[in-house]
Amino acid sequence: PEPALRDQFGRSIEYLRISITDRCNFRCVYCMPAAGLPWIPREHTLSADEIARVVREVAPLGLRRVRLTGGEPTLRPDLERIVGLLREIPEVEDLSLSTNGVRFCQDATLARRLRDAGLDRVNVSADSLRPERVAEIARRDLGFDAIAAAAVAEEAGLAPVKLNVVVIRGRNDDELEAFARLTLDRAWHVRFIELMPVGELAESLASDRSPLELVVPSDEILARLARLGAALGRPLYADAGPGRGNGPAAYHRFDGAPGSVGVITPMTHTYCGSCNRVRLTADGRLRTCLYGDHEVPLREALRAGAPLAPLVRAALAAKPLEHALLSRRVGGLRALSQVGG
Ligand code: GTP
Ligand code: 5AD
Ligand code: SF4
Repeated sequence: PEPALRDQFGRSIEYLRISITDRCNFRCVYCMPAAGLPWIPREHTLSADEIARVVREVAPLGLRRVRLTGGEPTLRPDLERIVGLLREIPEVEDLSLSTNGVRFCQDATLARRLRDAGLDRVNVSADSLRPERVAEIARRDLGFDAIAAAAVAEEAGLAPVKLNVVVIRGRNDDELEAFARLTLDRAWHVRFIELMPVGELAESLASDRSPLELVVPSDEILARLARLGAALGRPLYADAGPGRGNGPAAYHRFDGAPGSVGVITPMTHTYCGSCNRVRLTADGRLRTCLYGDHEVPLREALRAGAPLAPLVRAALAAKPLEHALLSRRVGGLRALSQVGG
């Protein structure tokens, strides 16, 4: 077999995050301007078959895990087909989806259909347990209910279910304990994500303050969770977390709890040294870091029927060592809807 994909720093790349659309039914304050973004023209968006071809060609280079993201991936009418095509690729051991969960609340059979098409599991965004607050952060009132969305996914067998909470100081940081308590009775995995200040979006969020003041450092989050554990008589321990995962989360568990709590720390403890991933944008660019402008277009080669592996290897040779969210202007990060979270 081909040697595993390695970048210039020896990190092996086994996780591909595919943004299948840049469109979204939410306009989260940390992700997009209120008016949305200039969408990628439909003709530039990869079709289901094109996505499958990219994965088929990259898979033998060492890929083991694929995640579909957006924008909001459930807005693609052919999502089930994409899942089905990727499921047939033998190297793909773990096929997951990151979603805002709105469609799970609107379409009672969607989660089951995705499971039947071959999806393994989902991560659902849940920035608040209060619907009116979700509507404020997402700038859309679509009746999203985090608990309902996670329960529907779990019942359909899309497990282990993970909840992603982007923590914003002054907006939802009073709910950490309420989210953490969910893990005492359910096998859900709640991950608290440090806000990544995305350029002007974060600046407008912060208005007169530095966007960095909106970041709640994971050490502070963990100290609060440890206090909660002590108060409940259920001490918090470091834990391996749910078996399945490729991501950067570090997990903990309250003594005896079925679920776990995790932190994702792009700001205070970068995990770039163990980065195992690359991204494919909806318009077919292979992106080797969330931050900056490290992209190699694959679409033209794909549509010309040319081999992709040499382009992929060249892209990896230029994968940067780490992001520069702290040391440089925060503006170097494109909206996450454009790069697949
Ligand atoms: P699991 O396989 O379930 O662990 O998934 P994951 O945590 O990799 O995926 P998810 O889409 O749920 O991402 C959670 C958060 O991690 C999001 O806020 C992502 O933007 C962030 N994240 C994922 N990959 C990277 C990365 O390479 N760099 C940075 N800075 N953040 C990332
Ligand atoms: N900072 C941190 N997390 C973000 N996400 C989107 N934008 C940001 C940001 N600026 C998260 C979403 C979702 C995941 C895929 O990325 O909330 O959970
Ligand atoms: Fe949509 Fe996710 Fe961006 Fe929110 S964070 S606007 S749900 S893509």
